[in-house]
Amino acid sequence: MAATTSERKGLKPHHIDMGERGIYHTDNRLNDLTGKEWVFATRSVINKSFPPSFQFALRSQHGGQKPPELCADLIRTFTKAGQRVLDPFMGVGGTLIGATISGRQAVGVEINPRWIEIYREVCRLEGLEEQQAVCGDSRTVLKEFEEESFDLVLTDVPYWNMDRRRRSKGKFKRADGPAVERRRSRLSPFTADEAAADVTGMEGKEAWLATMRDVFAASLRLLRPRQYLVVFIGDMYHSGRYHMLSAELAWLLESLGLVLKANLIWYDVAKKLHVYGYRYEFIPSMIHQNILVLRKE
Ligand SMILES: C[S@@+](CC[C@H](N)C(=O)[O-])C[C@H]1O[C@@H](n2cnc3c(N)ncnc32)[C@H](O)[C@@H]1O
Repeated sequence: MAATTSERKGLKPHHIDMGERGIYHTDNRLNDLTGKEWVFATRSVINKSFPPSFQFALRSQHGGQKPPELCADLIRTFTKAGQRVLDPFMGVGGTLIGATISGRQAVGVEINPRWIEIYREVCRLEGLEEQQAVCGDSRTVLKEFEEESFDLVLTDVPYWNMDRRRRSKGKFKRADGPAVERRRSRLSPFTADEAAADVTGMEGKEAWLATMRDVFAASLRLLRPRQYLVVFIGDMYHSGRYHMLSAELAWLLESLGLVLKANLIWYDVAKKLHVYGYRYEFIPSMIHQNILVLRKE
């Protein structure tokens, strides 16, 4: 008697043949990926750029928006269809749009109502189902949510006073010449002096870490056990030194009881290179972001 297709492929009762996608194992506890897809989803470097989509120009008013397609890939890796995703720093909704296009449910919290309006406008223009977007400070809003009611926390942390600070000019002095004007990044407003931070309205690193601790502790309460917390965070070069914010945030999250599982590198191949420090010193041209992966054990 001729062998069936299943027999030829060596399929077991808990295997589902998904055609070109590969074999899906019904005992997969984490996601809906086949073995073939899992191989790509677990690589440590994501070397991808994303063409403008989902009203990119509108979302770009934010400045820290993430590609919804990248968020959708991460959501597909860390959840199954229909599960719930939380973003306590939702911005203009990269995570929420990612959840919609991957068939998950999501709740976002954002302190600035302008970004929620833009998210809603994007959904309207794109005909996307809107996820729940709550306007408020995550440090208080999250306390009202039900314990262990989310399957993934996917977020992208704010930097120092992102909205309040304008681009400003500073001066730097070359070893062999006069001081010259330079532009400072909107995203580099560290101050070493925490007391001065209060006076200038510029939040320092300690205050930032304290906010991160509060928001992530509140988020952790909402996450189901053995589920993941995934965070975008860029390192930063500022005031003559490299700040490994990814490492500082990772240690902070571990101190809350999470276990660090990976530091994925998102290398945006379309990112422009800049010349920094030419002829005088090495200053990195940052073309990657870190994506920390931690689990509530
Ligand atoms: C890096 S952005 C997120 C961008 C987002 N991934 C997107 O695709 O648009 C971080 C956001 O967190 C918001 N934020 C800062 N502190 C907050 C807080 N305590 N509670 C809620 N949102 C906050 C900021 O207004 C900012 O829009």
